[in-house]
Amino acid sequence: MRYSRIAGIGHHVPETVITNEYLSSIMETNDEWIVERTGIKERRYVDPTKDTVANMAAKATRMALQRANLTEKDIDFIVFATITPDYFFPGSGVLLQRELGLESIGALDIRNACSGFIYALSVADQFIKTGMYKTILVVGAEIQSTAIDMTTRGRNTAVIFADGAGAAILQPSDKPGILSTHLHSDGRFAEELYVRDPGSSRPREERQPEQILDTTTYKVVMNGNQVFKHAVVRFMEVINEALASNNMTRENIDLLIPHQANLRISQYIQEKMGLSDAQVYNNIMRYGNTTAASIPIAMSEAWAEGKIKEGTNLCLAAFGSGFTWASAMIRW
Ligand code: COA
Repeated sequence: MRYSRIAGIGHHVPETVITNEYLSSIMETNDEWIVERTGIKERRYVDPTKDTVANMAAKATRMALQRANLTEKDIDFIVFATITPDYFFPGSGVLLQRELGLESIGALDIRNACSGFIYALSVADQFIKTGMYKTILVVGAEIQSTAIDMTTRGRNTAVIFADGAGAAILQPSDKPGILSTHLHSDGRFAEELYVRDPGSSRPREERQPEQILDTTTYKVVMNGNQVFKHAVVRFMEVINEALASNNMTRENIDLLIPHQANLRISQYIQEKMGLSDAQVYNNIMRYGNTTAASIPIAMSEAWAEGKIKEGTNLCLAAFGSGFTWASAMIRW
């Protein structure tokens, strides 16, 4: 049996630290409200004059390659998860391929929001298992800050979303590896967390830049209550699905890395599942919610802190826009 394993993991976050105090100075919010409801203390925003989704992804990739003792030339396929690509099209996968100096390898873009990294991991896992590719780069990278409404009107999303990138290198292995992945969606809730434009299903005159008077449809819209309610249910379901499919119980989880949506969601899951503090990794306090990048950034930091080692049973779980939700069970 051929499995895939993660040979290296890396991340990159932009330099600029945005504190709750700073946000409080430009909109009606405050540190106490943000910390109590989201757990976030600070987050990182790009400098749009130098950072791009693709170049942050390249920096994360180089860290992952170095930790895997590999070089760019070893990569034979890219799966890139982002909902904030540098261009409307083409996707960021080809831009990363160019940035890494790789000639003609395939690059696939995945648009599954906060579940994007696990969807990407699952796709890469299938390609490795079939023998189609040997070294796949799986990336999650986002620039959310430039689409955020930085006024009081946008405060429910401005305090949450932020920028960053994470990367994993997958290679074949004769022992597990990625044990299983589980992918779900429910499009009935698509508009509960979305950015409407530049949507294609608009009359032509509404899509021409000189006609656009109302730019609010270009900003993130989130029904926070609905997202919260569905998230806690789906996170638990999909973690339990991963446990059941591997004949495991919660005691077998050495480390759970939930998508860093909101610390309150992670704490709720931890409590309901009866997991100890040592079994759950969170870094949302420092980075906010970086959508598809949050899981690989957290994996990279947890690995560097020695919390993920050979033999660790690592469970990843995510929920987000779509709604989509997903999990992965990995033996490191
Ligand atoms: N600072 C201060 N007040 C804020 C605020 C902010 N940043 N954002 C919203 N408020 C206000 C609201 O305007 C509202 O005021 P009102 O009662 O006068 O109308 C009040 O706080 C309560 O708003 P509500 O949206 O009901 O708060 P909440 O308790 O649901 O918390 C979230 C809001 C966004 C923190 C919460 O819904 C949440 O975390 N949802 C999940 C979001 C998430 O995880 N998204 C990522 C998914 S991948």
